[in-house]
Amino acid sequence: MQIKPILSRLPALEVTPFGPAGPEGEYRFFALRLPRPSWKNWRPGQFLMLRPAAFGLELPWARPFSICHTTARCLICFFQVCGRGTRRMAQLKHGDEVNVWGPLGNGFAVEPDSQTLLLAGGMGIVPFVGYVNAHPKPWNTSMLFGHREPLKCYPVDNIHEYIPLDSLRETTPGELDNFIFTLNERMRDCAEQNGLVLACGPLPFLQTVRNFARELKARTQILLENTMACGVGACLGCMTRTSDAWPTPEKRGGLVQACRQGPVFWADQVKL
Ligand SMILES: Cc1cc2nc3c(=O)[nH]c(=O)nc-3n(C[C@H](O)[C@H](O)[C@H](O)COP(=O)(O)OP(=O)(O)OC[C@H]3O[C@@H](n4cnc5c(N)ncnc54)[C@H](O)[C@@H]3O)c2cc1C
Ligand code: FES
Repeated sequence: MQIKPILSRLPALEVTPFGPAGPEGEYRFFALRLPRPSWKNWRPGQFLMLRPAAFGLELPWARPFSICHTTARCLICFFQVCGRGTRRMAQLKHGDEVNVWGPLGNGFAVEPDSQTLLLAGGMGIVPFVGYVNAHPKPWNTSMLFGHREPLKCYPVDNIHEYIPLDSLRETTPGELDNFIFTLNERMRDCAEQNGLVLACGPLPFLQTVRNFARELKARTQILLENTMACGVGACLGCMTRTSDAWPTPEKRGGLVQACRQGPVFWADQVKL
């Protein structure tokens, strides 16, 4: 069922820092709580375009964020400060206006009876919070999480509650090799059971997942966090090249919009 996106103007409820502060007392990881918009349904993997009024004239474009979680009264996004927009978002105060456009995009596949392996790298964990909360049989899912910052910088509590979560922190190159080895083992097990692999994280992580998916013939979806300006198919800023496995012949080897046809794609259908 198509869920129609809606534009809502919402007052921020709170912005809460996560994890330890840096050397100058600055935080980089935040949860943003907003009142739940009027839309009822959304699919994990879908995203929002957020534009606080505080962006003013200097930052004309909204920024895309995965829907982390919803409660009866709140919508929660989780973000890492990496530039001008997220820095301003971190300074939002109770009552500051935020324009919210969503829910957008397609969302991850849910196969309640298939073994489902969730692979997250860093902030790629965010859409999986909603995924495990909404999954009808969470005992069929498990997660491998690779991260560089301390675990308490990420929203892991809502995942731990529902499913087994193995996390590996990378602080030396040796630990990265260990993570890649474990990733391969876990994907192999999942592929042998004809399970479903879902991945979200930085591009090199997704490229590794895609290569293993090819080698192991693992049914795999990936969420692409391409840079986006409009989120609704108007600016062509988020284009992704398709592979020969794309379902419609006229688009094979062509370009599709990550905001409209994605952000979740079958790993064999796009080029990274
Ligand atoms: C579908 C989708 C879901 C996302 N979900 C989340 C989320 O849940 N939490 C979260 O923290 N971030 C998420 N992102 C990434 C987030 O949109 C960017 O971090 C944000 O737009 C950066 O805005 P900025 O103004 O702070 O940075 P800018 O000033 O615009 O850029 C600062 C730096 O960040 C890089 N950057 C900008 N956009 C992205 C991007 N999309 N991916 C990687 N690097 C980028 C730029 O290249 C630059 O180096 C998501 C992106 C997409 C497309
Ligand atoms: S973000 Fe504008 S077309 Fe996709």
